[in-house]
Amino acid sequence: VPLQGRNSFGVAATAGLLAEVDDPESLPGLLARPEFGRAMVLGGGSNLLLAGDPQQPLVALTGQRVEVLGEQGPATRVRVEAGTHWHRFVLHTLELGLCGLENLALIPGTVGAAPIQNIGAYGVEVGEFVHAVRAYEPATGRWHDFSRADCAFAYRDSLFKQHPDRFVVTAVEFALPREAAPRLSYAGLAEELARAGIDRPTARDVADAVIAIRRRKLPDPAVLGNAGSFFKNPLVPAARAGALVESNPGLPCYGDGPLRKLSAAWLIEACGWKGHRDGDAGVSPGHALVLVNHGQATGAQLLALARRIAGSVQERFGVALEPEPRVVGDQW
Ligand code: EPU
Repeated sequence: VPLQGRNSFGVAATAGLLAEVDDPESLPGLLARPEFGRAMVLGGGSNLLLAGDPQQPLVALTGQRVEVLGEQGPATRVRVEAGTHWHRFVLHTLELGLCGLENLALIPGTVGAAPIQNIGAYGVEVGEFVHAVRAYEPATGRWHDFSRADCAFAYRDSLFKQHPDRFVVTAVEFALPREAAPRLSYAGLAEELARAGIDRPTARDVADAVIAIRRRKLPDPAVLGNAGSFFKNPLVPAARAGALVESNPGLPCYGDGPLRKLSAAWLIEACGWKGHRDGDAGVSPGHALVLVNHGQATGAQLLALARRIAGSVQERFGVALEPEPRVVGDQW
């Protein structure tokens, strides 16, 4: 099965076996078949680097049913199947008059993938609005309904990310407030709204501002293959972060806890990588954190470039960068 059209980098790779599953109830039967042992779930392929052919069978969940379950205090619970396109779901919740997901507009990928890496943008992480996650565990044959606390959400991290391929997320239940509480503190968002002349933004206004910023800053995977941020912003001990900011004026540093988040984009740009190209594997000229496929790059070439970038940031700043997308077919 060709995978080039199923990963947002647009790199060529082949899967030995891929099953599309609409009804989650058929998962236990399918995954019990020996040829589907150790299956990996493929969502929108937007957080994936295929550095080689996947050696595992693949399962793609295609169910897209959305169900409004009812009100619970100031929030409304909505259950949505894993195969649903994330951005379309965000727009749908806004049309229903529900809030919370507006800062997460235009993130590529599916609903099922959202809790796995706890997608986040513009000061909001999806975990805050997750009420429960339904998942099947092939090894035990058990279904789980994980609460938000069970999911152990953290920056680009969760229970599911910690245990790759152990659970198959089939649906997510959200608790979405009916009253807007705009979160505008992230750099650029309030300014974007002010420029549009909006001083009391609705959730839809915030989504529109986020969409405009993303369109300006991030390459559209349909035009130029990419997987969004290729590296996580590194978390480093506060003292170390302070020393780095001292010796590198302008280095963005976020948070106030024992661990501070540094801007990986800034570190990479400082090492001269922004806009760099090795053949068709490159770094976006618009955003240093985004690796791009200018056409015919292979996953292995993109991985090699990523390693060189991380190597130079390590050497110059002593900071280890970790990939954000899942690397398949090779080791990071
Ligand atoms: N910067 C540079 N050079 C660049 C780009 C950015 O120095 O080429 C510096 C600037 O100082 C800028 C700062 O980095 O102010 C932050 O940039 P940006 O607002 O684009 O955010 P980011 O930290 O690079 C993170 C997420 C994005 C998310 C944005 C907005 C990670 C790994 N990435 O990027 O998520 O959209 O914040 O919230 O946390 C993704 O995960 O795929 C993704 C795109």
